Amino acid sequence: MSEAKRLAGEKAIDYIEDGMIVGVGTGSTVAYFIDALGRIKDRIRGAVSSSQQSTQRLQMHGIEVLDLNATGPLSLYVDGADECDPHKRLIKGGGAALTREKIIAEASEKFVCIIDPAKRVDVLGRFPLPVEVIPMARSLVARQILAKTGGHPVWRDGVVTDNGNVVLDVHNLSITDPVAMEALLNQIPGVVSVGLFARRPADVVIVGGEPPLVL
Ligand code: 5RP
Repeated sequence: MSEAKRLAGEKAIDYIEDGMIVGVGTGSTVAYFIDALGRIKDRIRGAVSSSQQSTQRLQMHGIEVLDLNATGPLSLYVDGADECDPHKRLIKGGGAALTREKIIAEASEKFVCIIDPAKRVDVLGRFPLPVEVIPMARSLVARQILAKTGGHPVWRDGVVTDNGNVVLDVHNLSITDPVAMEALLNQIPGVVSVGLFARRPADVVIVGGEPPLVL
């Protein structure tokens, strides 16, 4: 599958324009994108990063990492996903970077999502839905998720996000209305963000393959 991830990551370079500041997501597919970006780094002004992991890799390639507060809106964001439905709505957060990923997606005019073919689904929810939670609210949020959705939240024990929070992975969901589910979960006090990218889906999806499929 890593070959498909590499092909998707490298194809996303087609969306780079000279002088851009590029929003960069997190994960193993994005790592291939960052490596490809490193090869053309003189064409870009820098990047806004969604995680410490991606920041390290960008800096290793000599790409300047900028603060979103200083850059303002971005024209392009490139990120992976854990699941993608036919409407380009996504589950993300397998790498626990969902909050910063959501912020950068919102700040960007175009969101290009890079995936391997196994990530394509008809209905979201087979992959447990990550929810970032303020630590003191973990049990409260877990009880409310169970009551409101019937899904089974599991604490991702030992994981602390870049923002100092914890992650609940919600199992046994079949998300037939992702926009409604995103809104419902966002309303629970203590929820920082939900790994559903439905209200703001991807604009373009690149499925790695020979050749890559652009949706
Ligand atoms: C990180 C993410 C990733 O994009 C998602 O987990 C996919 O990762 P990978 O490219 O390693 O399969 O949302 O929070």
